[in-house]
Amino acid sequence: MTELEIKIPITEQRSYPIKIGAEFLGSLWTQIENDFNQPGKFIVTDENLVSAGHLQKLTGKKDIPSFVIAPAGETSKTFDTVISIVEAMEKARLGRDSLIVALGGGTVGDIAGFAASIFKRGVPVVHIPTTTVAQADSSIGGKTGVDSSISKNAFGTFWNPSAIYIDVTTLTTLDDRQFRAGLVESVKHALIADSQYFDFLESNLDAILSRKPDVLEKMALYNCKIKGGVVEADPTEKNQRKMLNYGHTIGHAVEAASGFELLHGEAVAIGIIAAGLIELEMGLSKPERLDKIRRIFKKLGVPVKLPSNLAENTLIDLMKHDKKTVGKRPRFVLISDIGRVHHQNGQWAVEVAPDLVKKVLHKL
Ligand SMILES: NC(=O)c1ccc[n+]([C@@H]2O[C@H](COP(=O)([O-])OP(=O)(O)OC[C@H]3O[C@@H](n4cnc5c(N)ncnc54)[C@H](O)[C@@H]3O)[C@@H](O)[C@H]2O)c1
Ligand SMILES: [Zn+2]
Repeated sequence: MTELEIKIPITEQRSYPIKIGAEFLGSLWTQIENDFNQPGKFIVTDENLVSAGHLQKLTGKKDIPSFVIAPAGETSKTFDTVISIVEAMEKARLGRDSLIVALGGGTVGDIAGFAASIFKRGVPVVHIPTTTVAQADSSIGGKTGVDSSISKNAFGTFWNPSAIYIDVTTLTTLDDRQFRAGLVESVKHALIADSQYFDFLESNLDAILSRKPDVLEKMALYNCKIKGGVVEADPTEKNQRKMLNYGHTIGHAVEAASGFELLHGEAVAIGIIAAGLIELEMGLSKPERLDKIRRIFKKLGVPVKLPSNLAENTLIDLMKHDKKTVGKRPRFVLISDIGRVHHQNGQWAVEVAPDLVKKVLHKL
C-alpha cells in the first residue's frame, strides 16, 4: 500500500491521506473504523456497485445504513437524490457526528460529497473511488455537485474529503468503454505535468488495458500526485487549477453537441487533439508530438476526429459557455511541451483567434 498526503491550504488548515493499493476493499471497513471515530457511518453508492459485489465486499456481514442510487449515472445527479440521502440519514438517526462513505464513480462521489457538505451544516466524507475517472480525477480536489435541469453541476460546494482509499482492483468490473474513456484524464495529466508519466503510459498501455494491479497502482500514484499538486497550489480554481481543463474547451462543446452520446473522456480526447492542432498552428509544437498523442488515443480506442454530424457553428456557440470564456472569447489551455503548460502573463488559459479555432475545427 502506498500512502500520500494532500494538503488543503487556504480553505481549511488540514490535509488528508490518499491510500493506494490492491485487494483491500474486504478489510477496508475495519480500517475506516480505526481511522474515524464518528459513531454514525453512512454509505452512499449506486446499483452497479451493488451488483458488482463491491458494497457487499466493503461491509461484509455488518449492517451499515446506506443509500443506493438508482438508476446509476448522471441522470440521478440531482438535488432530489441529495434530499433522499439526507432523509435516509435522518431516518437512520444520524446526526452531526456522522461520516459519509462514498463508494463509486464520479457520480456517487459528487452527490455524496455535496450531501456531506450540507447535511447538518456539514459532516466529513471519505471516498472509495471505483472508476478510472474517479481514481484519477473526481475524488481528489474537493469539488462536489449535482445538476439542475438546465446545466451540469449547477449546485455545488468545495468540500474536501477526509481520506481517499483507492483499491485499483475495483476497476476490474468496470465496463470497458468507461474504463478506456476515463484513461484520457490520465493522459491529460501526463501532458500538462509530467513527461516521465507520459513515457510510463506509452510503455505500459497494454498492462493498463489488461488491468494489471501493480501498473494501475503506479498510475494512480502519478495521477494523485499531479492532481493533488495542482489543487494544493490553487484549491478554488483561481489560476493554475485551470490547467486541468486541458482539452476541455472543445471537449465540453463536443460532449454537449453529441447529446452526451460521447462519454466525457472520449470528447476530451477530441479536445486534446484540437488543442494539439492549435499548438501546431501557433508554433508551440511539432507534428511528432501530436502523432504520439494520436497513437496513444488510438490504442485506447477513443476518438481522435470530430464526428461528422457535429456542426462547427454549434461547437463555436457551445464554447462561449465554457467557464474559461472571457467576454465571449473562449480560452484554451495549451502546452509548449509534453509536461509543460504554456502560460502568458500569468494566465493558464489563453485566448485564441476565432479564425484559428475555426480552421482547427475544420481540420479535426
Ligand atoms: N468533482 C470533480 O472534480 C469531478 C471531476 C471529473 C468528473 N466529475 C463528475 O464525475 C461524473 C462521472 O464520473 P464517472 O466517469 O466515474 O462515471 P459514473 O460514476 O457515472 O460511473 C460510470 C458507470 O460505471 C458504474 N460503475 C462505477 N464503478 C464501477 C465498478 N467498479 N464496476 C462496475 N461498474 C461501475 C456506475 O454505476 C456507472 O454506471 C460526472 O458527473 C462528472 O461531472 C467530477
Ligand atoms: Zn474532464
